[in-house]
Amino acid sequence: MSLSRRAVLAGGLALSACKPSGAAAPAAPIVLGPLKALAPFAVGTAVQAGYFDIPEYADLVATQFSQVTPEWEMKMEYIVQDDGSLKFDAPDRIAAFARQHGMRLYGTTLVWYAQKPPWFERLSDKDFGPKLDEYLTTVVRRYPAAGWDVVNEAITEDGTGLRSSMWSQRLGELGHMTRAFQVTKAADPTALRFINEYYLESIPAKLDTYQRLIERLLAAGAPLTGIGCQTHCNADLKPGGIAKAVAAIGRFGLPIHISEMDVSIARAKGLGVSRAAWEQAQARLYGEAMEAFCQLPAPQRFAFSVWGARDSESWLRGETKTDTPDLFDGQGRPKLATKAWADAIKA
Ligand code: G3I
Repeated sequence: MSLSRRAVLAGGLALSACKPSGAAAPAAPIVLGPLKALAPFAVGTAVQAGYFDIPEYADLVATQFSQVTPEWEMKMEYIVQDDGSLKFDAPDRIAAFARQHGMRLYGTTLVWYAQKPPWFERLSDKDFGPKLDEYLTTVVRRYPAAGWDVVNEAITEDGTGLRSSMWSQRLGELGHMTRAFQVTKAADPTALRFINEYYLESIPAKLDTYQRLIERLLAAGAPLTGIGCQTHCNADLKPGGIAKAVAAIGRFGLPIHISEMDVSIARAKGLGVSRAAWEQAQARLYGEAMEAFCQLPAPQRFAFSVWGARDSESWLRGETKTDTPDLFDGQGRPKLATKAWADAIKA
């Protein structure tokens, strides 16, 4: 088989890149402008107040992103104390950081099955609803936000139904949700009100149930004005799942938030797959998500948020100390994934 001129040239270039020892030359560093300058829509990340004491971390967040989401310190687990008092020091610091750097604030989360503070559990049936209304009103008014995850992760793990939670048991399966949306709207009519869910790209039943729930809420008159797709995925996720999920929720015509994207390599399953191959798979998934997001009409592109700025602070490090799921490594350097994410941006 004769080699074409192009193949010979390409081969020569590749070889010339190798050191005399035959080892491949280190890949050239990836250089990108600030992510928020590359995108015509908000680019967000989850943050924790204590991390702002790390200068490199604070600089990276302020430079690269235009929106922040408190990773956990604006949730009931942080704010609601056992005596019913409310603690706001950390979320106040995050809100102040956002104001100081001209960033949007995104609040998560108001009503979530995973949050059942003992103080709420002890309330009488008569007080339970009004005290939830009071909590939601207090928090939403304290933090002027671009949007809120009003209801988070309402679908069961297997995707076949709605979760049962303290909130649904005491205020109704749909009633607790419509109430939360109504109270949030009354507290701040300017903030968008999202429902948010995970694994829409990997559990088809969940995507179906999510769409049916959104239809039910809208039919019930819930002032739901945004739809979130968390997009926590693993590098072995088959291509196409993210695109399908984003297109499906996009059909409601509401603002869409890719709200919590990260791509775990440590959780990916595959024998004998090289790290370089996983990193390429990770890059493809970040690129697929951005392509899908940019397919949406511009008014529906609320924000693209990742769940952490740097690998070193990722929640997934609590599971595997070497996982590298985010767009920046522990030194704040962009990766193959970051370039794929950026290359996929279309105005
Ligand atoms: O920082 C404190 C530490 O001082 C204390 O010693 C320790 C033990 O109490 O707690 C530490 O705080 C933990 C915090 O993460 C920071 O690591 C909280 O207990 C822990 O509950 C919190 O977990 C967060 C989790 O949501 C629950 O709120 C994770 O950071 C956060 O990444 C995770 O985020 C969720 C989204 O809200 C919903 N989608 C899935 C996503 C990942 O699970």
